[in-house]
Amino acid sequence: TTLNFVLGTRPEIIKLSPVIRACQRRDVSFSLTHTGQHYSDELDSVFFEQLDLPIPDHNLAVGSGSHGRQTGEMITEIESVLQSTRPEVVLVQGDTNSVLAGTIAATKMDGIEVGHVEAGLRSFDRDMPEEINRRLADHAADYLFPPTETSRDQLLQEGLPEEWITVTGNTIVDAVQQNVEIAHEESRVLSELELDEEFALLTAHRAENVDNRDRFRNLLNSVSKAATEHDLSVVYPIHPRAAKRLSEFGINIPEGIKLVDPQEFLDFLLLEDKARIVFTDSGGVQEESCILQTPCITLRDNTERPETVEVGANRVVGVQPDDVARAVREMLTIERNWENPFGDGTAAEQILDAIENE
Ligand code: UD1
Ligand code: UDP
Repeated sequence: TTLNFVLGTRPEIIKLSPVIRACQRRDVSFSLTHTGQHYSDELDSVFFEQLDLPIPDHNLAVGSGSHGRQTGEMITEIESVLQSTRPEVVLVQGDTNSVLAGTIAATKMDGIEVGHVEAGLRSFDRDMPEEINRRLADHAADYLFPPTETSRDQLLQEGLPEEWITVTGNTIVDAVQQNVEIAHEESRVLSELELDEEFALLTAHRAENVDNRDRFRNLLNSVSKAATEHDLSVVYPIHPRAAKRLSEFGINIPEGIKLVDPQEFLDFLLLEDKARIVFTDSGGVQEESCILQTPCITLRDNTERPETVEVGANRVVGVQPDDVARAVREMLTIERNWENPFGDGTAAEQILDAIENE
């Protein structure tokens, strides 16, 4: 089998890293196509270095832009890479524009199949660009790799054939297991950021939260208020999208929130592990805090990761101050002994098994 990984953003680099490493271990032939959706070092090259990934064979350098321009340019460029490399399977992961572009380019080419890693997630919120991307990718793919039975059932309910589906767990478990001990040994992030013994971690970057001035301000105020009530300082590694909006909107950072640059993976894992509580609108961060037994408050109106809520690790509360404060009070007192719903850390191996056994 020859594979081509199409990836372009921070979470795809992290979540495909176990699959890429498994290919290297098993001598599966593969190439990497980087769309360039993320290009700042702190969202891109630091992860290749830290996760010891090979330099991409093709870098399309598409960069930022409107959905149509960005996705369209990627499709054109990916098509020409696939024409020259002719892989048997293209693997994509998640729900970004890079995923949609890789899927569309590959699915229309003779002799090339598409595998979608992290298939079957649904927020049922069609205003989110990610919801559209993941639905379209699932319905164009030939191999579907849902992380859980819940996501598998969703695919079946949408009429996708059982033979195409393999429940693998989420590759983020593989990535966390492969890196958390190294993070404890090597990361100096706690002293470098001069964090208090007890702190909370915040990430917020979703378009629906940070592109709206009132909602973004509300989110920050709610987190600040809830954390202050429990004497917790908050550290916020800020995504460039959110940083841009903050300055554009002229929002003042409320008391107790410390803005820092986006963190490398090992540092970020340690922050998640050591935090008293995590506030987030990220998909991957909901999963990682669940895996690491750190309570999570999701600052959104819905989630495509309901498993985290079902096991008791996560509350989805939106951004209103009373809702956030109530959730924090509850989550600070719960026992941290929920089960990890995302598998046993062998997702990458199972994905390659499914492709190779075809
Ligand atoms: C994208 C994904 C989102 C995912 C996130 C992961 C889509 C539609 N969205 O959102 O699902 O959760 O990645 O982090 O695919 N920018 C930089 N440097 C970069 C990349 C972006 O400064 O390397 C800034 C630019 O101002 C850009 C903005 O961030 O306009 C948004 O970037 P974009 O890739 O469009 O979306 P993300 O918000 O990163
Ligand atoms: N992450 C990181 N440094 C940071 C913030 C996040 O390494 O400062 C990692 C985090 O561990 C997770 C992934 O980035 O694996 C989540 O990416 P993001 O929140 O950008 O995207 P989403 O998961 O929402 O698509």
